[in-house]
Amino acid sequence: MTADSNTAPPLLFTPISLRGVTAKNRIVVSPMCQYNSVEGGPGDWQMAHLGRLAFGGAGMIFGEETAVEARGRKTYDCAGIWDDRHIPQYSRINDFIRQQGAVPAIQLGHAGRKASCHGATEDWRPLTDDDIKDGFAPWQGLAPSALDQLPRRFTPREMDRDDIRTVLDAWREATRRSMDAGYDVVEVHGAHGYLIHQFLSPISNHRTDGYGGDLEGRMRFALEVAEVTRDAWPSDKPVFFRVSCVDGKGGIWGLEDTIELAKALKQRDIDLVDCSSGGITGDTDMPMVPRIVQFQAGFAERIRREAEIMTIAVGGITTAQEAETILQQGQADLVGVAREFIWNADWAAHCAKELGAPDPYGQMPHEYAYRLRLREKAKDMPINQGGAVTQAAYDRIFGAR
Ligand SMILES: Cc1cc2nc3c(=O)[nH]c(=O)nc-3n(C[C@H](O)[C@H](O)[C@H](O)COP(=O)(O)O)c2cc1C
Repeated sequence: MTADSNTAPPLLFTPISLRGVTAKNRIVVSPMCQYNSVEGGPGDWQMAHLGRLAFGGAGMIFGEETAVEARGRKTYDCAGIWDDRHIPQYSRINDFIRQQGAVPAIQLGHAGRKASCHGATEDWRPLTDDDIKDGFAPWQGLAPSALDQLPRRFTPREMDRDDIRTVLDAWREATRRSMDAGYDVVEVHGAHGYLIHQFLSPISNHRTDGYGGDLEGRMRFALEVAEVTRDAWPSDKPVFFRVSCVDGKGGIWGLEDTIELAKALKQRDIDLVDCSSGGITGDTDMPMVPRIVQFQAGFAERIRREAEIMTIAVGGITTAQEAETILQQGQADLVGVAREFIWNADWAAHCAKELGAPDPYGQMPHEYAYRLRLREKAKDMPINQGGAVTQAAYDRIFGAR
């Protein structure tokens, strides 16, 4: 849908308000771990990385999964917000993002049993005693049940009620710090096989107390996290919740379960479900979600329709037309994009141009927009249209041949 085929501005570039927060467009930079934090805190890398994305015109910019407590990290290099000293480190970046016209957003998470490993580039190799000499002692992860997914150095410890209370308190405090750091959106990371997902899936949750068993029991921890987050977060700012709409290959948690979860989240004033998938595997006949174009948009559509809650469609979205069509067809309210932004940080502004949005360069900061508008204008000058430049004028400038 371009301006030629439809005079209404593209939906992708129609501003959207979520409670008291307005994004200039509906493109979201999806959370992306960087494995580049120092004792949880962000530095120049995050400033450059997120700042560059803010230049590129996305309406809302997530940083990375940010641990609510130190042991909730996957690696020593993961981001966290478990201490007040992190607040100014994040607020410096958030101020900058906001100055460029984008909405800063944080994803809060806890790795649970996926803790204590090396990073993505080392294929999540578990930390071992050999790493102690380098200052990277392994630590024990927490989990709803003492079950491991990968062969790791330590089997996770089953959480008792005190552990659950401790993590909920950490979540509340991390939410409060996120507010103090100037974020406008907070998202609970309930997906990808991390702690909340570990409670949801029967593969990883074998508890027999009130936090396990049937769907209601397995959803309890997720809903308690939702409640403390909503409670600690300003009522004029939205709370998102990321789910794995289905487990990974061989899993059990499925889309019908997610729809029930989404309805319960809505009752707890959660504003939006961010629809991802995978992270917990097992040996059932559940297939892996094929990584095709827009591979999770169908989840976003069903949840939006059946739970009547806003959704983000994310996964395999790489063109302006795909993103616009998802919105036009009512599959989602926002479109999340990750890898395409690594390749092209200006993807959002390029989409605006491609869809014929009014003043596409206006999606970028004025320092860039001004020059790009002039560049565009130059294309209309007669000389660039094969038009008349008199020989005399040419000779005057370049010298007579
Ligand atoms: C480098 C990288 C880091 C990621 N880190 C996170 C993360 O911290 N939290 C999360 O929920 N998803 C994370 N994801 C998943 C993305 O948010 C997104 O859902 C996924 O990449 C699919 O979108 P895409 O096809 O546009 O890349 C990460 C993806 C990438 C590529």
